[in-house]
Amino acid sequence: MPRYKQVPMPAARSFGLVAATSVGLFTLATFDHRSSPSVARSTIDTSNVALGMDTRRWSAKERAALFRMSLSQLPPLAPDPSNRVADDARAAELGQQLFFDTRLSGNGKVSCATCHQPALDFQDTIPQGHGMAFGGKRTMPIAGTAHSPWFFWDGRADSQWAQALGPLENPLEHGATRTLVAQEVSARYARQYTTLFGALPATKGLSPMAGPNSDSAGRAIWSRLGPARQESITRVYANVGKAIAAYERRLAFGRSRVDEWIDAERSSQSSSASMSPDEISGARLFVGKANCATCHEGVRMTDDDFHNTGVPGGRSASGVALSVDDGRATGVRKAVAGEFACTGPYSDVHSRDACAELRYADTANALSVRAFKTPSLRNVSRRAPFMDAGQFATLEEVVAHYDRAPRAPLGTTELHLLTLSAAERRQLVAFLRALDAEPVATPASLLLPPLRLSERSLARQ
Ligand code: HEC
Ligand code: HEC
Repeated sequence: MPRYKQVPMPAARSFGLVAATSVGLFTLATFDHRSSPSVARSTIDTSNVALGMDTRRWSAKERAALFRMSLSQLPPLAPDPSNRVADDARAAELGQQLFFDTRLSGNGKVSCATCHQPALDFQDTIPQGHGMAFGGKRTMPIAGTAHSPWFFWDGRADSQWAQALGPLENPLEHGATRTLVAQEVSARYARQYTTLFGALPATKGLSPMAGPNSDSAGRAIWSRLGPARQESITRVYANVGKAIAAYERRLAFGRSRVDEWIDAERSSQSSSASMSPDEISGARLFVGKANCATCHEGVRMTDDDFHNTGVPGGRSASGVALSVDDGRATGVRKAVAGEFACTGPYSDVHSRDACAELRYADTANALSVRAFKTPSLRNVSRRAPFMDAGQFATLEEVVAHYDRAPRAPLGTTELHLLTLSAAERRQLVAFLRALDAEPVATPASLLLPPLRLSERSLARQ
């Protein structure tokens, strides 16, 4: 038997569920090799398991790139000066309630958790998210993203709170309006809200359709409200985003076998959580010959930047070709002009030195055409299908794409032909799978609507 341990994955899609049950967060169970043929192939067949890397074969540069990837290198979360309540526990609690609240939607059925399901690493396993209707983009995971400077595949929001305000008014997602959101907050969260943000404006009797991003009838009602009322409602709306961001900031990455292995290598200690020869070869390809770590760099496995990687346009659930959007080229202009930008009237920033990312964003970079945010690859094997519109069904397809480096459907790809052997492609996939983390690193209490938690404690009394 190999000496390394596997994190349990009782069924391919049920990761994270463990965290939400009474079994406990960090329980390690025996891994059933039979249930996962792909893992079995890459890690079990090897009778002579190589623990650790052969340092003579790794260049200093490859080793340095690998060592930067361990989760123990994660810096503390930087403060968000644009959000006064970012690290306020009361705001996080309110944000958690709002995150799971389906009343903040046009049909009373959609919450953030409809698409960002805690049991699925805060995504939904389908090629394009579905709220009020299908949107054109793949739902992104949330854990660890508080460290990002940009949000969405095209980076059109510059903070987690500005991001949260997009889906609420998007007719395909929540299909709500800021007036409806302010009314729901007044009806249900008034005490919590006023403690954090001060008095609520009177919104009783207003049409819940009123909003600047509503349909034409709703926009007409909104414009008749006049600037002062509009401003007071929009301020509640912005504060809702800030509370949700305070919650999201607490969702953390879990440790993977790769992290255990790197830490053992760095301290020159032998590790019980070691890697198979294929996984180790895959790691070396990742930081070396295959160039993956030039973009999937460092502990979060992202350079926080945007790249055109020649990914083809997506297809809708009914097989219709989706528009081939220009990604970051438009996204960066939206971010700079954003109503809820760090430099805007709803930001809590007071210093002229703040918001550097936004102030110095390059809005005319030709490389931005069809460039998308480099996603973290932590837990990646558990969130097929892949890419911004779920274009690839398997990791094998992803690696084959990088190997071929095809022409981009728009703009110019940054990839170069790799010509990997079949064995090397398999090793890269084996490494990507080894990045799967413990079920979830987040306390179980953060993975449920708080209401359900209090129900449970009532039941115990
Ligand atoms: C209908 C499904 C759906 C709903 C509902 C939804 N999202 Fe998303 N979320 C997505 C999709 C799809 C993307 C990527 C969209 C894009 O880039 O255009 C995304 C992106 C994000 C991101 C960006 C992550 C990153 O790395 O940049 C965050 C954070 C997020 N959503 C949080 C939320 C919050 C908070 C709510 C509730 C207010 C919410 N989402 C509601 C589907 C959804
Ligand atoms: C030039 C920068 C760059 C390089 C090099 C690169 N990636 Fe990526 N990677 C990206 C970007 C950008 C995306 C998202 C593209 C999209 O969604 O259209 C991505 C997406 C992915 C995804 C899908 C993640 C998800 O959440 O859907 C995987 C897996 C992946 N890359 C693995 C690799 C591997 C393995 C290599 C090396 C063979 C590699 N990448 C090299 C930038 C890069």
